[in-house]
Amino acid sequence: MHDTYHKATEHSYWSVRQPSRGLDWSMQPSPFKIYEEYPLIPLDLDNPTHKFIYYLGGIDAKKSYPGVEYYLRTIPSAGALYPTEIYLQIREVEGFEDGIYHFDIAYGGVRLLYALGEDEGVEAYFCDKRKIKGFVSLYSTIYYRSSWKYKNRAYRYCLLDAGHALGALEISAFLYEHAYHIHYDFDIAALNERFGFAQRESFVSSAVVGVPMSQKAAKLGMALPFIDGTRSFEPNPMIEAAIQDTKVVHHCRPNFRYPKMPFVKERLDEVVVQRRSMRDFKGYPIQKAQLAFVLEFMPQPIPSDCDEKIDIWYVINNVKEMLQGLYKDGELIKAGDFRAKTGYLCLEQALGSQSAVTFFLTGKAKGNYRPMMQKAGHLGHRCYIASEYQKIGCSGIGAFYDEEVQEFLGTKDMVLYALAIGV
Ligand SMILES: Cc1cc2nc3c(=O)[nH]c(=O)nc-3n(C[C@H](O)[C@H](O)[C@H](O)COP(=O)(O)O)c2cc1C
Repeated sequence: MHDTYHKATEHSYWSVRQPSRGLDWSMQPSPFKIYEEYPLIPLDLDNPTHKFIYYLGGIDAKKSYPGVEYYLRTIPSAGALYPTEIYLQIREVEGFEDGIYHFDIAYGGVRLLYALGEDEGVEAYFCDKRKIKGFVSLYSTIYYRSSWKYKNRAYRYCLLDAGHALGALEISAFLYEHAYHIHYDFDIAALNERFGFAQRESFVSSAVVGVPMSQKAAKLGMALPFIDGTRSFEPNPMIEAAIQDTKVVHHCRPNFRYPKMPFVKERLDEVVVQRRSMRDFKGYPIQKAQLAFVLEFMPQPIPSDCDEKIDIWYVINNVKEMLQGLYKDGELIKAGDFRAKTGYLCLEQALGSQSAVTFFLTGKAKGNYRPMMQKAGHLGHRCYIASEYQKIGCSGIGAFYDEEVQEFLGTKDMVLYALAIGV
């Protein structure tokens, strides 16, 4: 069922050449959801707990073009449309009332949406219902922000974007010495209803950043009103069906292993806010050691309750002392200069051909689609962070000719995400 959505949203040489309606930029959905009626706690970046939250997705750059201003964040987003919203349950953390908060990106703060009663908590909607002392972050997607531009293919980008947010959490948790565990298996339908999402927004993942207490949490008495997070809206039946089909996970394999984090914290701290997507590469080579650093960090384990296998393929275009060609797991699969080919495969984007290395992430169709796509986004985030750390550029690439990439790689697995790194 899940692979049906992926299959139905493949790009092909012909599909991208179909006439399409131009975009009316004045109708672009708002990338900010604002709970205006709720009290705002502005984030003070000198406070370590506030900074831990800020790194999850706060604004760190502004770009101005005539008539428009874009605010860029610690997480990248396909088309800078930012469909992901971040909520936090905070319990027994100094400086915060126990409650459910929304990360208000526009105002750079958190808003208390609901103060927790003695026994209540979002933990009640998880398999292990024990209260968590610390944070439970909840990630939702407002799909229309992306489907407004990317139509049916947008749910892919929503999940990849949410995966980047999980990757940002991993980095922030490392910097602020918190352990984390990602959860995909929780009662999404019930929580959507408590949060008043009304079919427009749906939870996709969660992360526990804290320690279990002995007492179990009871279900929330909270019933939030619907708050419009887009201003404009058009339903997309294919995406709504895909969201519905992927709400529940099946036969999950948990992973309890932690990644090795090869970073010096002072430098990583700079990298988080410096991270940007590369717009165009100059086509210079990178060092073998720089690629080795990225390749070492990307496949590190991700602790989660539903781990899906993802294969990392990479095409070496321009790396010193390395033969050009397609590689997987350190092995050369086929030698050759594939620069023009990878550029073509990435929907004729120069990013794919002028990069030093272009990655393709693939996964099995029988997997759990929602966790698998978010894991691909999470690995993508690691690719960005490790590249920036090595002072090389990176860009996610969500647009590629699916079947032709499969043919090039020689796999029937689904192509989930592509990324390019270089200088
Ligand atoms: C899932 C995903 C897919 C993306 N796909 C493309 C792409 O196909 N081409 C491109 O030039 N940039 C792509 N990007 C980069 C975004 O355009 C970029 O993240 C966004 O403009 C925000 O800028 P920043 O990353 O510099 O903060 C992608 C990013 C993500 C997260």
